[in-house]
Amino acid sequence: MRPTYPERMYSRLRSALFALGPETAHNVASLSARFAQSAAPFLLDAMYEYAHPSLHQEIFGKTFANPVGLAAGFDKNARMIPFFRKAGCGFVEVGSVSAKRSKGNKKPRAFRLPEDEALINRMGLNNVGAKAVQPRLREHAGQIAFPVGVNIAKTHSPDIMGDAAIEDFCESFRILAPYADYVALNISCPNTEEGKTFEDPNSLDQLLTAIMHERSQMERRMPVLVKLSPPHTPNFVLDSFFDEILLVSLAHKVNGFIATNTASDRENLVTSPARLEQIGRGGLSGQPIRERANGLVKYLYRKTKGNKPIIGVGGIASAEQAYERVKAGASLIQIYTGLVYQGPGLIRDIKEGLVRLMEEDGHSSISKVVGIEAE
Ligand SMILES: Cc1cc2nc3c(=O)[nH]c(=O)nc-3n(C[C@H](O)[C@H](O)[C@H](O)COP(=O)(O)O)c2cc1C
Repeated sequence: MRPTYPERMYSRLRSALFALGPETAHNVASLSARFAQSAAPFLLDAMYEYAHPSLHQEIFGKTFANPVGLAAGFDKNARMIPFFRKAGCGFVEVGSVSAKRSKGNKKPRAFRLPEDEALINRMGLNNVGAKAVQPRLREHAGQIAFPVGVNIAKTHSPDIMGDAAIEDFCESFRILAPYADYVALNISCPNTEEGKTFEDPNSLDQLLTAIMHERSQMERRMPVLVKLSPPHTPNFVLDSFFDEILLVSLAHKVNGFIATNTASDRENLVTSPARLEQIGRGGLSGQPIRERANGLVKYLYRKTKGNKPIIGVGGIASAEQAYERVKAGASLIQIYTGLVYQGPGLIRDIKEGLVRLMEEDGHSSISKVVGIEAE
């Protein structure tokens, strides 16, 4: 297939961006996106517009024009929502946002692994804080057919632990949840000094008790989703770790799951061990985590009998991979690393490809495909 105009444009832009460090490139791309959304919104429409009725779904009482969303971490401070709407996303998840602003870890903290189509990052939850994000969320969430979720995390500080950590999460929830179409609880960030405090079932139980109590005091019961880490292998049927987390989450009636966050291990890589050692710790994303993320989606779908919507994320970089994730049980999908390597034209490519793949298989609606290969 001939490359489309956005693809040709991004392949030129990519050479320039990849000459910069990953974080600088991200900042340049973000500034360009913000410029484009205010100066040339019609041009974005012309470049990226693509809609098809078979991609529509109603999930958590919200209308999604298509299942392709922006994953958390790309627009941490909610500054690019109009750009991703114009670029054709069906929804956006901003954040992670924490109660207090945070600079994150020392730079450099993001690395490309081109041979693996992967990234490693240890950004460490850098963000401007819940109060600064609130007005932006207020402006852009709650629109028809373009849900905006907010991903919240504990403020990155090893001094905030135990009850204080729960209160910190609750503070963000109180500030942001009333304006969000859904709230994702990031309990699986691998990049904090204190580690993954909330993937321990007891901590998760306490966190969900507190968050659901906060929600019960609010006018609107916005959906609350839990974002999980990837398993170490795609076949982890006997893994009681996920069983326990699932049990706790279901006991608190969470509305859905996001699978998955980045991985702390270095499985499935062709990048040299010397390079990996030079990079150091951080969360791995992109193609090396695809199969495991797919496996976790299948597991969650089977265990919940398809009753809890799942957002599938991790290593999706083509329509075929998105289709595979939907068949595994994801009602919606998100992308991050794929965007870095392929640019925003990927959003349209996935949508067009999904429609083509569904037509080939005789499916009239994406909702009919969800979970058909979860077994
Ligand atoms: C640089 C970077 C920063 C990220 N920041 C966050 C974050 O703040 N909160 C979060 O929940 N996930 C974050 N993620 C994880 C992504 O949302 C996603 O779960 C993960 O990258 C797997 O998807 P992918 O393979 O499409 O990148 C980040 C990922 C990257 C690469």
